[in-house]
Amino acid sequence: MDAFIEQQLAQTIRTSLCRAQALFDRGDAAAGYAICSQILERDRTTPGPWVLALRHTLAAGDFANAVEQGLMALRTRPQFETSGAFDSGLDVTYADIARDLIRGCDGLERTEGDGRSALALMARGLAYHVLGDFDSARTSYMKVLVHGADAARMVGECINLLHALEHQAGRPEQARRWLDLTTFPHAVHASDVLPDGRFLEFCDALYDEVMASPRLKESTDPQSRAWIVADDINRDGCGPRVKELEGIFDGLLARHRNLFECLDHDFVHDIFKTFPERHTYKMFCAILNGQGHVGPHIHNDGYLVGSLYVRVPHEPGEAEDSRAAINHGKHLFHAATGTDYPTRQTVPETGTILFWPAYYSHSVPPSRAETPRMAVGFEVVPA
Ligand SMILES: [Fe+2]
Repeated sequence: MDAFIEQQLAQTIRTSLCRAQALFDRGDAAAGYAICSQILERDRTTPGPWVLALRHTLAAGDFANAVEQGLMALRTRPQFETSGAFDSGLDVTYADIARDLIRGCDGLERTEGDGRSALALMARGLAYHVLGDFDSARTSYMKVLVHGADAARMVGECINLLHALEHQAGRPEQARRWLDLTTFPHAVHASDVLPDGRFLEFCDALYDEVMASPRLKESTDPQSRAWIVADDINRDGCGPRVKELEGIFDGLLARHRNLFECLDHDFVHDIFKTFPERHTYKMFCAILNGQGHVGPHIHNDGYLVGSLYVRVPHEPGEAEDSRAAINHGKHLFHAATGTDYPTRQTVPETGTILFWPAYYSHSVPPSRAETPRMAVGFEVVPA
């Protein structure tokens, strides 16, 4: 975006936040929330409206919403991926938000008996993590892990947070038990798994087939504006190249049924330990346009996830940051908790196939490429 337009938009958001703040202070919460909602409709990447909403739901004793809003306020925004700066448009720090979040969790415990939902426990752990109280954070995260399958998404988030936390606490061996980034993602090349090894022709044909697919639709992921996805592309009436790729992925999976046997330690959470015999097998396509990026995420319900890079904008030798690399290990709140822990960046080429446990957080940093990158992925989801 043009720098001048960006500056003007930021100023407009600041002015609107001041108006919302004034309305909240006057006791007109409905009007204050209405302005926050309007800002978020335009730009969900600004934390300011979440911060205001958190303060006022907390004051109103609506602790369940306060916890949700606090988590949204602490999420890493794409602009911090490059600048590292936190600018909510308000006079507030990550630590201020963390302290409010703890008050929300305290309130939930008081009003809902034990109040120990996996979400509230994760939020409490995150707040302590942001404040640098690693022991208390670890205790809360570990409590989420014993909640079991009904907390699968929170379990995944906490494992990624524990990986960062143990590094930050100076315990790298413990960190590696949570995410082993030297082992995952696994990488193979399409030329090794295609019957005739002619992967470039295959990738070109697959690209054309998917681009012509009626399933292609634009995603509205709040952290990205140039991200297009097509879900379930291997369902009814899919094209011959997608069908062929499904067979290739199937063959790969057959060889990696015990995904974790290569680890030299035995910690794997029960939820993820065994290949789900009853599962659905989903294929999707993700197209990243120039300037596009995807924030850190896990595949909530999956066991395993992977992708074939069908088209990568530039071949090796070009600047890495123009080629839509993929990062593993960076979690959803990494700017708030601190970025001083190792992650792994993989720079794919056309024909690279990567796969990893679905709870390994991954993200795609902003790209400078002007041509699209296409990946066709698969997910194994327990039925
Ligand atoms: Fe993903």
